[in-house]
Amino acid sequence: MRKPILAGNWKMNKTPAEAVEFVRALIPLVTPYPQVETVVCAPFVALPAVAAALKDVPIGVGAQNCHWADNGAYTGEVSPAMLKGLAGYVIIGHSERRQYFAETDEGVNKKIKATLAHGLVPIVCVGEDLTQNEAGITEPWVSGQVRAAFAGISADQARGVVVAYEPIWAIGTGKTATSEVANRICGAVVRGALAEIYGEEVAQAIRIQYGGSANEKNIGELMAMPDIDGALIGGASLKTDAFAAMVRITAETN
Ligand code: 13P
Repeated sequence: MRKPILAGNWKMNKTPAEAVEFVRALIPLVTPYPQVETVVCAPFVALPAVAAALKDVPIGVGAQNCHWADNGAYTGEVSPAMLKGLAGYVIIGHSERRQYFAETDEGVNKKIKATLAHGLVPIVCVGEDLTQNEAGITEPWVSGQVRAAFAGISADQARGVVVAYEPIWAIGTGKTATSEVANRICGAVVRGALAEIYGEEVAQAIRIQYGGSANEKNIGELMAMPDIDGALIGGASLKTDAFAAMVRITAETN
């Protein structure tokens, strides 16, 4: 049984003070649903305050990126070693980082290895853009991203990775993949690629999220799909009511 995981990706939103106010309001709304793993991925500068506000509270804290090295001359970067104690999860290879900050499959793979080495849970993003989608190459593209991301990662380590399938054309656009299409890509394509690498038993243990305009209206239908184990949520995760409603609906759907 895969535990559903809902992660809010705040992106470049919320000051440390706003972040603390937000999580304080969130605590009573989501802690009644321990059957859902709820995570907030805050900007780096808000992580200390959010981690302190959520100390002893079963809401996970995530970062949105990290470097692969432990330390060194990498101006402006934050290492996984520095995140220990502040975050339990790290989003890796989000399409916005691939698009605007030139992240490559190779870098994504190194970052996954580094986060695992530090006991952090990587949330690894894959997904096609509109051109690729319209050209009908979604499946080979996404399975190629999965293979590149997991290169050299052992089966035991792979079990602890979360994959987020986020079609780029659905991010922040209000357009969502239909739940059937999202389920097919999460299942046949992402889990299928994982099964080819690690075998069916390991692939069945890995959690796969959908992301892209997920909200309180469509989460029930998405979570009812057998291969969708959660969501990576942008816009709707910035509002306590919407995010908490998604956690509640997920708890009721599973
Ligand atoms: P939206 O939910 O705003 O479409 O963002 C999705 C996303 O990119 C989460 O990582």
